Amino acid sequence: MRVLQVSAEIFPLLKTGGLADVAGALPAALAQAGADVRVLLPGFPALLEGLQEPALVAEIHAPWGEPARLLFGHLPALGGLPGYVVEAPNLYGRGGNPYQDEHGQPWADSHRRFALLGFAAARLAEGLDGWWAPQVVHSHDWHAALVNAYLAFSPHRPPVATVYTVHNLAYQGLFGPGHLAELGLPHTALAVEGLEFHGQLSFMKAGLFYADHVTTVSPSYAREIQTPEQGCGLQGLLRARAALGQLTGILNGVDRRVWDPAADALIARRFDKDKLAGKAHCRKALQAEMGLEPRPGPLFGMVSRLAGQKGLPLLVELIPELVARGGQLVTLGSGDAGIEAALREAAAAHPEAVAIRVGYDEALAHRIFAGSDVTLVPSLYEPCGLTQMYGLRYGSLPLVRRVGGLADTVVDCTLEDLAERKSTGFVFDAFDAGEMRRALRRAFALFARQTEWKTVQRRAMAQHFGWDDAAEQYMALYRALGT
Ligand code: ADP
Ligand code: GLC
Repeated sequence: MRVLQVSAEIFPLLKTGGLADVAGALPAALAQAGADVRVLLPGFPALLEGLQEPALVAEIHAPWGEPARLLFGHLPALGGLPGYVVEAPNLYGRGGNPYQDEHGQPWADSHRRFALLGFAAARLAEGLDGWWAPQVVHSHDWHAALVNAYLAFSPHRPPVATVYTVHNLAYQGLFGPGHLAELGLPHTALAVEGLEFHGQLSFMKAGLFYADHVTTVSPSYAREIQTPEQGCGLQGLLRARAALGQLTGILNGVDRRVWDPAADALIARRFDKDKLAGKAHCRKALQAEMGLEPRPGPLFGMVSRLAGQKGLPLLVELIPELVARGGQLVTLGSGDAGIEAALREAAAAHPEAVAIRVGYDEALAHRIFAGSDVTLVPSLYEPCGLTQMYGLRYGSLPLVRRVGGLADTVVDCTLEDLAERKSTGFVFDAFDAGEMRRALRRAFALFARQTEWKTVQRRAMAQHFGWDDAAEQYMALYRALGT
């Protein structure tokens, strides 16, 4: 089974969020399950530099005439994974992140940057590389979605199956309808049954409408996006695809090569569920590093993009109470300036108990999961969420809202679930500070009973959220689409 994975980011070369973790872990898991996997990436500097011994596959011209080169090589940072990179210095050779410039503004030519990625994927599917052509093109999020439209309108559609995975329905890649011709797509594509969304050109819809099969990253989110509350206006189309059996939720996994407290070189001391002494050491080290007093109460950690999705206002409201109860809080994140300011204010008011680091720091993220007792993920919505799974793995019990992938991965400490040995964390329902407060109180109550706490902690650490399961499900899907 020859599979081409197409995405805008990939860990460890370029990451802004969970998409990169998935793109970096899924290929190896699919290879393990027997697939012949290659990735296709845009030529951002970090991705071009990651490509070893690049060889020219072909010169291509974007639909608007811009020349680009398709390179093939191996990615040593990903265990030698074979990969194609689209080299187009005018489009990709700049700083900032893949989606925004240094000032946080979306790049004015994002439609071209990501259309070229989809266009190159379609050309590969049509046989551009004489040595290798995919049987399945699996694209991720709106940045890669246009491949599905290019293939749908390809004059000689090759025998290739297309799978499109939605990682976050809220980011849709909407552009002015006037760009359609420049992107080389026929005007008939700008229809409700096509790429049109409220008069705009939607890259997201290229995946949702034209892919043979749509997946998303948890079973709960697959259901939620069929409702007006979470469908972002696309629930009708999603319901129609689901009715045809063409929408599936496949839960993400944890990359054990990166997230394993027993082998993690980035943490103060290694530990596992049978030897938790190392975790106590990591906790002390984290308090010291963040300038917190060495208090005995529960240490809460949060590693997150500071975005509306992530539910930070609930946390900010509860910080005084969390501190009054003897808790401490460490947050690492970047994004929204207002949220950042509110967290800084809380840290200034309680320097002995609250610390915030603004920025992106992969190693500190590891130290927070290892050193904290509770991982906070009070999201408004969450397609899958990875940090709650990292928390589980590192014995930092997740406190989450019951939504999306969070609902699928964490079991609350209710008396009955504790009795039935199922509990792995703390879960609340309504997006409301009062509800979250009750979950926090459950966390404090369990923490006060250390024997029970350790039992739940060991159970959390024993959870298996592996990429092997996800890879089997994707393989079954690829086979069912049969090419
Ligand atoms: P999302 O993709 O919506 O941001 P996920 O939970 O799926 O949420 O994935 C977030 C990923 O990004 C995790 O690997 C998390 O550890 C990481 N991350 C988020 N913010 C930071 C940060 N400031 N520094 C380091 N890692 C971060
Ligand atoms: C998105 C979602 C997150 C998910 C990640 C990887 O960024 O916001 O919930 O875990 O993609 O699929």
